[in-house]
Amino acid sequence: MKAEILRLLRETDGYVSGQELCNQFGVSRTAVWKAINQLKEAGYEIEAVQNKGYHLVSVPDRMDEVELASIRKTEWAGAETYYFDKIDSTNTKAKELAEEGHPSGTFVVADQQTAGKGRRGRSWDSLPGTGIYMTLMLKPDINPNHASMLTLVTAMAVANAMHRVTGAEALIKWPNDIVINGKKICGILTEMSAQFDYINHIVIGIGINVHNESFPEELQDHAGSLLLECGKRVHRADLIEAFLEEFERLYAIYLKTEDLSALQEEYDQLLVNRGRQVRVLDPKEPFEGKAMGITKKGELIVDTWESRKLVSSGEVS
Ligand code: BTN
Repeated sequence: MKAEILRLLRETDGYVSGQELCNQFGVSRTAVWKAINQLKEAGYEIEAVQNKGYHLVSVPDRMDEVELASIRKTEWAGAETYYFDKIDSTNTKAKELAEEGHPSGTFVVADQQTAGKGRRGRSWDSLPGTGIYMTLMLKPDINPNHASMLTLVTAMAVANAMHRVTGAEALIKWPNDIVINGKKICGILTEMSAQFDYINHIVIGIGINVHNESFPEELQDHAGSLLLECGKRVHRADLIEAFLEEFERLYAIYLKTEDLSALQEEYDQLLVNRGRQVRVLDPKEPFEGKAMGITKKGELIVDTWESRKLVSSGEVS
């Protein structure tokens, strides 16, 4: 009921009367009063005026189940949401939930991770109160060979969500880092459990630097946060909701063909190094060329002085 009360308060410019809340939810005045008090304790500033009712003055930077449910507009993404103040890794938790039979679209979010995982066996710094650590679990009925493209779909969803919420030009460094002003703001780690022709589940983990005021010296040149790059404090739940909405839209397009043919153009427009000279850190033989865009399979097209190459994995600098 707390989420519904919050939704109603958010949607109302003026005041919502206590009676209106009682009628709407079929509960007593005391029950409404209790729920309002719990919301106040959680940091929501709610003004109560006699003969008028309740008015929402300000909301705290929370991203728990109540806050997210009160702003949720998606159909299936995040229909089941689990929030943790502290957890080892949201990816690990999402895998557990998948194995326990929770549905596709189950979403895990945490304020802090004690064992946040990055790509290539690296760790992901996950301090409390500074970032968003979230994982979307999917059980898609697609060919496992087509699953890696979902990371690119996710990158587009994050970049679009950041643009919607901050107005900043958030771009993608192929395949899936999100950068603003050349600084990495977000990383994505996708993990899959599959048979050779069947996907059990996929977990897409996303780490976003939101309120970080500084970074360790060795990261300073490359890492940034929304606060540092956009100069404003973002309400984390708004960014999460925008991401889930964007993901649902883009995922539906991807599913029609199980490739990026209908998303290639949108992705290319977000590609930070498009038309620029890049160095492909191919484990066998690094090379340089001009990044031209992606193929419908999500490979990066790189033109070298002698030929056109398609890069399907690895890193680009
Ligand atoms: C990268 O190395 O760029 C990917 C980082 C991915 C970090 C996120 S934070 C939420 C989710 N849980 C994890 O343990 N890792 C991912």
